[in-house]
Amino acid sequence: MPTLRDIIGKIDIVDVISSYIELKRVGNNYVARCPFHPDDTPSFYVSPSKGIFKCFGCGVGGDAVKFISLYEGLDYWEAIESLAKRYNLPIKLERKEKDSELLLALERVADFYHQELKKSQHFINYLRDRGLSSKTISKFFLGFAGNTDGLLKMLREEGLIQAYERSGNLTKVEDGIYRDLFRNRIVIPIKDVSGRVVAFGGRSLDGSNPKYVNSPESQVFKKRSTLFGLHEAKEYIKEADEVVLVEGYFDLMSLWQEGIRNCVAPLGTAFTEEHAITLSRFTKRVLLLYDGDNAGRKAVRSSVPYLLKAGLSVRVVYLPEGEDPDSFVRKDPKALRDLMDKAQDIQEELLQKVKEGNKEAFENLLYFCSFITDGVKRFEILKELSKETGLSISSLQDKLLKVEPKTKEEHYQLNYHEAVLLAGLYKFGFEGVDVDNLKLSLHALKLLEALRREEYHLIPNYIKNMKLMDLKSSFEESLKVLSLPQLEDSRDFQSLRQKIKEQPRKLRIRR
Ligand code: UTP
Ligand code: MN
Repeated sequence: MPTLRDIIGKIDIVDVISSYIELKRVGNNYVARCPFHPDDTPSFYVSPSKGIFKCFGCGVGGDAVKFISLYEGLDYWEAIESLAKRYNLPIKLERKEKDSELLLALERVADFYHQELKKSQHFINYLRDRGLSSKTISKFFLGFAGNTDGLLKMLREEGLIQAYERSGNLTKVEDGIYRDLFRNRIVIPIKDVSGRVVAFGGRSLDGSNPKYVNSPESQVFKKRSTLFGLHEAKEYIKEADEVVLVEGYFDLMSLWQEGIRNCVAPLGTAFTEEHAITLSRFTKRVLLLYDGDNAGRKAVRSSVPYLLKAGLSVRVVYLPEGEDPDSFVRKDPKALRDLMDKAQDIQEELLQKVKEGNKEAFENLLYFCSFITDGVKRFEILKELSKETGLSISSLQDKLLKVEPKTKEEHYQLNYHEAVLLAGLYKFGFEGVDVDNLKLSLHALKLLEALRREEYHLIPNYIKNMKLMDLKSSFEESLKVLSLPQLEDSRDFQSLRQKIKEQPRKLRIRR
């Protein structure tokens, strides 16, 4: 029996890739404009002899399976399956069968919860009080997890209990006795992009903590790349050529009901690079519509680098303090649409502030600029910044972070302060440390997220074992050096205008 590798080795990568994009022959290789980042010069190479592709612009590369999984947004196994189908290859997909059992179980459980909800006027009233219509409730297939015995009975009868255990949604208390993770919660099914239920989110109704519980990761559920609502929203995203990012499940459902349907939400975790890449397949424009609080503003700062890096342009709506999209759209849908229509491109907005003499905006803009992959666009902004500040373009260029690694080794390099910062966070934890306004390269950002998720295996050993005379004070020093000013919102912008009026002096930033 040939191995998977043997089989993949037989596939003609040129044949596969050229069925998606146009390839041009150059010597022994083929080139194209890279489909994974905005590419003015063809930097995408395919080597038929090695069976691999590589983009020298954005760094992606791999075999035919990798290409398909990136291009079609499939996971590795789904990509193999699609290849196998196309070439009639005899691949025994054992994992695939297991997956489909689990998916079936999830589907059945979603249905069970939904029927339970329909039976309970009390919980329907809760949703009604939150403004959701029965149409919306059906659209998102909301449910209620009250009757664990009934759930287990159904799973046993259908022979799915072992499969469902793999979802992590049931915990075994002792033999034959299980606890449902979502017990007594309103359940929100989370689907993958093709509409299969892969996980649940559950909201407590009695104020008990945590407010939300989400399924743990499983074979079929990867938090880092799943976006709630994407399946329902994808056609609307393409149509509007823009995606609206919100923070919460209910934000998304309320907006949907109001007719704003091109929305997605990450799942309680920070927005990741994978999320950005997933979105970039549907549109190149994003509107951030986060909560009008400190956390929301921090979320803007941490999402923007990944979005820009994936070649997306970003507009930001700043909601009034204390509002989230859910509360605001129900109060005043017209005002929300106005804010959304008027939202400016984040670079333009910051540039405007720089022109008005705002030094913080200058630092933020320069930071964000580091992530813009489109060289022409980046240059335009630097030119403007140069005009405003009196600094030369080349000195501004020197200030940009190195975010695009040139070599594989460089990819793992952090600068001194980044390394000390991460070592300190590893040792002392996050408590009392403001990590949301830092000037970090993409690699450092990812390690920071890994630390936050306590995925210590992703942290390089030299960080974990860093020996410094006095790590604590070095840590504090590095934290200071890496700090960026807070992103201000438009209300600060108003008061800033006021300040500028009172003190009409043009700011010059000196070297
Ligand atoms: P929010 O606290 O803003 O919740 O968290 P929300 O959506 O406005 O909730 P409601 O309106 O009070 O019902 C935003 C998102 O963060 C995740 C959930 O995905 C939530 O929708 N979250 C929040 C969790 O995963 N766990 C929590 O304990 C809280
Ligand atoms: Mn809310």
